[in-house]
Amino acid sequence: QIPQLTYISRWAQSKCNSWNHCFSRGIKVAVVGAAGGIGQPLSLLLKQNPQISELAIQDLVDTKGIAADLSHISTSTTVKSFTGKEELACALENAAIVVVPAGLPRKPGMNRSDLLSANGSVAVDVAKAVSKACPAAMMAFITNPLNTVIPIAAEVLKQEDAFDPNRLFGVTSLDVVRAQTFIGEALGVNPQEVKIPVIGGHAGITILPVFSQCQPEYKVNSEQRTKMLTRIQEAGTEVVKAKAGKGSATLSMAYAAANFVNSILRAMNNEENVIECAYVASDVSEAEYFASPLLLGPKGIKENLGVPELDGCEEDALKLLIKQLIKDIEDGIKYAEC
Ligand code: LMR
Repeated sequence: QIPQLTYISRWAQSKCNSWNHCFSRGIKVAVVGAAGGIGQPLSLLLKQNPQISELAIQDLVDTKGIAADLSHISTSTTVKSFTGKEELACALENAAIVVVPAGLPRKPGMNRSDLLSANGSVAVDVAKAVSKACPAAMMAFITNPLNTVIPIAAEVLKQEDAFDPNRLFGVTSLDVVRAQTFIGEALGVNPQEVKIPVIGGHAGITILPVFSQCQPEYKVNSEQRTKMLTRIQEAGTEVVKAKAGKGSATLSMAYAAANFVNSILRAMNNEENVIECAYVASDVSEAEYFASPLLLGPKGIKENLGVPELDGCEEDALKLLIKQLIKDIEDGIKYAEC
């Protein structure tokens, strides 16, 4: 009896320590597009976040089974399912954070911008629903083309008089995760120890890892640097090609998005110095929307930390990417007008 009791009490103790926020907050997170390739692993990761008391999973089909499955996991987060557009408003009601992986993925040969006609309506529908059901929620979009989807959502929120630039995010954390991974491999260090801002947007040349600010230092010759830049910018396409028609990055995207949501939650919980790169409404460059390091707080963006100091190559890359970004943003504004 005694060893068994000891084991149980030690197990309980360790769980209490790791779940120390278990019952301290009642935060609802809604996942829109929860049955998809990103939505399912994302929901699995969020179900394990002790800061989330309720997880609302919404999609056009299949949410009942996924919710039943998730609900058997022995964490304190309760899971509720919502099916179809008609249940979107209920899914969003009282949500503090709305994460949106909904939408179609790329096929080989497609650019992210080719998804505008298929996925633009996701931004419109979700922004409209949020403006009515939970206008104070933080919104984190994953849907592509992200450079264009965020301006669409912002325009719709403006039309609905519910736009708060500090609460609307395009999730670009996967670009940071990839930069950490590839640089970590190249330097032979743990990728978790690599700190690097990735700025601009989330497509091709608009993705700009700021190598000059990398910690530990990433000092290589220009050929190696160009190769690394291209690998990070084309990493999404690398996965699309490897999946050969069966979609784009899902697991790494879910990992990156779950980390981003966790950072929002930590900041909502008054933790200091929570910094994440994300694509947001911005005045730090000529582009109206731009990804840069952000200091997060209880109400979303507390301070935009702006464009980090750049070296000459990065300055040139920034000039080029701004042109592309402005075009992507104009496409979004036009889309929202129609
Ligand atoms: C990614 O970066 O993996 C995603 O944006 C999906 C894609 O189409 O590349």
